[in-house]
Amino acid sequence: MKRALITGITGQDGPYLAKLLLSKGYKVFGTYRRVSTPNFWRLQHLGILNKITLIPADLSDTSSLLEAVTISDPHEIYNLAAQSFVGNSFDFPLLTTEVDASGTTRFLEIIRHYNKNIKFYQASTSELYGANVVSIQDENTQMFPNSPYAAAKLHSYHMVRIYRKSYGLFACNGILFNHESPLRGMEFVTRKITNSVAKIKLGMQKELRLGNLDAKRDWGFAPEYVNAMWLMMQQKIPDDFVIATGETHSVREFVEAAFSAAGLDWKRYVITDQKLKRPLDVHQLCGDNAKAQKVLGWKPSVTFNELVKIMVEEDLRRWQMYKDGKIVPWDAPNYPHEMDMISRNVVRDAQKENSVRKKSRLKRLLNRF
Ligand code: NAP
Ligand code: GDD
Repeated sequence: MKRALITGITGQDGPYLAKLLLSKGYKVFGTYRRVSTPNFWRLQHLGILNKITLIPADLSDTSSLLEAVTISDPHEIYNLAAQSFVGNSFDFPLLTTEVDASGTTRFLEIIRHYNKNIKFYQASTSELYGANVVSIQDENTQMFPNSPYAAAKLHSYHMVRIYRKSYGLFACNGILFNHESPLRGMEFVTRKITNSVAKIKLGMQKELRLGNLDAKRDWGFAPEYVNAMWLMMQQKIPDDFVIATGETHSVREFVEAAFSAAGLDWKRYVITDQKLKRPLDVHQLCGDNAKAQKVLGWKPSVTFNELVKIMVEEDLRRWQMYKDGKIVPWDAPNYPHEMDMISRNVVRDAQKENSVRKKSRLKRLLNRF
């Protein structure tokens, strides 16, 4: 029986991948972080919580990773764990580097010393292209990261390539473009939108505040993307692949489609808030999946409008059940709505106050002389 170790089992992709591997007869081990409130709702939602062996581990702690590898003794490692929120990486650049860059090298070193036959999948990202303005990106497009997150992931991307070439490891980068689902975290724009649309429709929320509506992304459906991860690991030769739909849409288009899926006019509810804009954003992403189609035989089938509809309908269903007093495993009821604004606003306000204070102190000092 094949054994797989998935890091980041509590995130969006981990449970979908685990479900896929279980269906293929794998024994699945998943790493989770010790947090004060357990967040296994996605595994519960897919009905697989008790089918996975859970191991506590943190990407910033080498001993815990070593333990996870020795306990699971895997044939395949899927490294999905990350500080994955781009906006947050501007507030926590060092933590992001520690986890998203050094965490990968920790694994590569463990594999090199423990068992060079373990195959390694690295969750690379379309964010690597960042400031590159080409209209469609493939495996040969130059990478210009535009955030601490992307810079850390670029480090990992190269380490995977370097370990593959230097030590002959089976290590590959899945350069995945944005992929979404009803299991998407609430801090990401798609789920923030669909959750708000559902609440507005049911009279539980009045408005939706968003940042950059002009940003364009290539959005696909997550369960299809985890299949591409598995396919990469079944190849004879390890390689890097772009996984994308080849279509790009703006945040504004996503908003419009989501409100319209609930029979609402978005212009009545959406407010643009400058504070939600990033210090530096990625303007446009659109992936060329030709190599994945040719070598892996992978092709997406869920369209943009279908994806939006799946997410809106699921959030509507959950909030309706909540209103009806039914309890379902789910993140939204405990999520402070303007969560993504909190840290940066507080920081910015404090910085403003600080600079006012500094100026008046300077004035007082000048007056003395
Ligand atoms: P996600 O929902 O944010 O899940 C991230 C996972 O990493 C969670 O299980 C989280 O645990 C865990 N984690 C965070 N910090 C950790 C640490 N220090 N040590 C161990 N685990 C840690 O992300 P996702 O959407 O599933 O994406 C999976 C991977 O693909 C990520 O690496 C992401 O950067 C990358 N990626 C995602 C997309 C996308 O569109 N979804 C596209 C390209 C690449 P907690 O639950 O405890 O927070
Ligand atoms: N999160 C968020 N919240 N984003 C907003 C908002 C808002 O209120 N308003 C506008 N946006 C814009 C962001 O500025 C960005 O341009 C775009 O919506 C998408 O943001 P996210 O959904 O946070 O995703 P991302 O593209 O930055 O990152 C995701 O995809 C990457 C792959 O390209 C994450 O999953 C990354 O982990 C992943 O690597």
